[in-house]
Amino acid sequence: MTSTPAIPRHIAIVMDGNGRWAKARHRPRSFGHNAGRKAVREVVEGCLRQGVEALTLFAFSSENWRRPQDEVGALMELFVRALDKEVDELLQQGVRLRFIGDLAAFDAPLRKRMHAAMARTAGNDRLHMNVAVNYGGRWDIVQAARRAAAAVGRGELRAEDIDEATLGRWTSLAELPPLDLFIRTGGECRISNFLLWQAAYAELHFTDTLWPDFDQACLQRAIDDYASRERRFGRTGEQVARARPTQDSAC
Ligand code: FPP
Repeated sequence: MTSTPAIPRHIAIVMDGNGRWAKARHRPRSFGHNAGRKAVREVVEGCLRQGVEALTLFAFSSENWRRPQDEVGALMELFVRALDKEVDELLQQGVRLRFIGDLAAFDAPLRKRMHAAMARTAGNDRLHMNVAVNYGGRWDIVQAARRAAAAVGRGELRAEDIDEATLGRWTSLAELPPLDLFIRTGGECRISNFLLWQAAYAELHFTDTLWPDFDQACLQRAIDDYASRERRFGRTGEQVARARPTQDSAC
């Protein structure tokens, strides 16, 4: 028994393993990315069933531009197709879709589609789904620092008043519940410049499952793993144990 609520409020996922999944089937990498769309639908369903409030997916990192041109092109096409096909369903499911990252790098028609999808689903709040594109955790911290510097320049803020809370308010996802659970599929155990600020106290779950094979049972295993952790946020185990009866009796 721990004081960790059984269901994380906010889950983030590095969807890794599409290329290896495709290679095992003697197909191009783009085949794996396309198969990854089904896994996205699975986790959205799973989050809705479990009452998870926010889901943040790493779809394209600021470093992914370094991939072969044809793979980058295939991913862009996939995003356009996914936007055209999936947004109606997300709208009906009560999902609010948002893109985070430096969207300025995408071509105008794709950007327009992204903004249209965000506007169409803006009234939903059953699940906040954030798709990180051209995103990097360091970029996120830098853009927050720039906004703070601009506020200082305008005389709205004193540099000595900038603290974690002030800067945090300018990072992506600041208005959502803190990140509780960070999942990475595909067997690698690293964060790869995703949500560096937001993951400070997230529980990490790594699985060998390749992203296209990730389904609701895999999500449940990750949630069960999360629920078994003791989250201490800097306190000792004894302090957490002493606080527990009060918390439990308050429920
Ligand atoms: C990493 O696997 C995956 C990506 C860079 C792309 C993720 C995109 C999707 C899952 C497409 C669907 C998403 C949305 C939101 C429509 P990898 O290519 O690095 O795999 P590997 O490690 O096996 O090579």
